[in-house]
Amino acid sequence: MNVERLVAGLDIGSAKTTAIIAEVVGDLPRHPGIKVLGVGQARTTGLRRGVVADIEETTQSIRKAVSDAEQMAGVKVDACYVGIAGEHVQAMISKGIVAVSGDEISRGDVERANAVARAQAMPPERELLHAIPQEYSVDKNEGIRDPVGMVGTRLETEMYLVTIGSSPALNLRKAVEKAGYRPLQLVLEPLASALAVLTEDEKELGVVLIEMGAGTSDIAVFHEAKILHLGTVPFGGNNVTNDLVHGLGVTQGDAERLKERYGCAYEPMVDPSEVITLPSTVAQGDRQIPRELLAHIIHQRTDEIFDLVMRDVDAAGYAGKLSAGVVLTGGAATLPGVAELAAEVFGTGVRVGIPSENISGLVDAVEAPRFATAVGLALYAASRVALGLESPGGKKLAFNAPNVDKLTQKVKAWLQDFF
Ligand SMILES: Nc1ncnc2c1ncn2[C@@H]1O[C@H](COP(=O)(O)OP(=O)(O)OP(=O)(O)O)[C@@H](O)[C@H]1O
Ligand SMILES: [Mg+2]
Repeated sequence: MNVERLVAGLDIGSAKTTAIIAEVVGDLPRHPGIKVLGVGQARTTGLRRGVVADIEETTQSIRKAVSDAEQMAGVKVDACYVGIAGEHVQAMISKGIVAVSGDEISRGDVERANAVARAQAMPPERELLHAIPQEYSVDKNEGIRDPVGMVGTRLETEMYLVTIGSSPALNLRKAVEKAGYRPLQLVLEPLASALAVLTEDEKELGVVLIEMGAGTSDIAVFHEAKILHLGTVPFGGNNVTNDLVHGLGVTQGDAERLKERYGCAYEPMVDPSEVITLPSTVAQGDRQIPRELLAHIIHQRTDEIFDLVMRDVDAAGYAGKLSAGVVLTGGAATLPGVAELAAEVFGTGVRVGIPSENISGLVDAVEAPRFATAVGLALYAASRVALGLESPGGKKLAFNAPNVDKLTQKVKAWLQDFF
């Protein structure tokens, strides 16, 4: 085992903390993949809607998830890539203009233009998370993906800047450090998930990814291979569970179990004659309800969540650009009928995204929508390692050689600032 090729992704969600330890494999540096060695999970209690609310509790969940993954993998890690999300996330477009230094545009010109776009004054309470080059303009020609080698005098870049609140970021890092691990980099969770489940074609054609977690449902819209929009709806699986608690008069734990066992997000899929037994209580004794009622409650709330997502995407002006439809991930996307309901709301094709591309090893252990973020974080880490930008040991790797060709450079330029 080459320890320099070990990576760890840590997804600290509102319901569950998941750690994945993997080895970077594949055709390096161009097509890195991961071989999953270990997966660990722990219940999270220290988060409120995706943001750390109790450092000590969060630390304990991290410790358990990572040490379980280490145990499974039979290796120790000291650093990890950590997901971040929440309503404090903001995005904006920033432009950078430079004069071309020579006859044709060089890599250096592109980097200079990107540096200008990135150099936005950040208020002290915000932190730059990702700066993703979108496209370039050379003189009057717009929409250029890679301007290197083109002739022109003026180069303009358009960057997508993602910023986060400094204090949620600080608390997250603190919790990871207190657990005994080095947070190498924070990565936006829906973008990590996108890396794990979206195909290049989908991103090219136009797709909305909905990461359906416990506390929030996060949105990422891609079109022409660019990230166009990020959004968050402050509702998720927890709200569905709470509706069941109130609607059926059951405990939180029972509601969760009923949802996982009999739940369905699309009412018409349930046989109206089917009856389920609720856990009995001393006061109420045995109770039976039509399964349709359970589905009805789940359907209503999930429909509301999709409706809010739709409005967000509409308001951002991208509703007509989603030829590849909708991809659902996150734990709440496990519910049967969720794709059927989404198809009805969005009027497009919908699929549930399960990590499977570029992964080997313990694939079975991560083949569910709720592993999309953690797998994406490990894939992100793998790309960084593959390109020699950052190895877990902090050293540049041997294959970051001077012979990196143009394609690799292109990938690298994008990766440098995002993935
Ligand atoms: N089999 C299942 N059927 C229905 N719902 C499920 C199932 N498994 C998980 N869920 C729901 O998915 C949610 C948890 O999803 P996930 O693990 O993606 O959330 P998280 O990452 O912890 O939260 P967040 O991303 O919002 O911070 C919970 O609300 C849970 O009830
Ligand atoms: Mg999550």
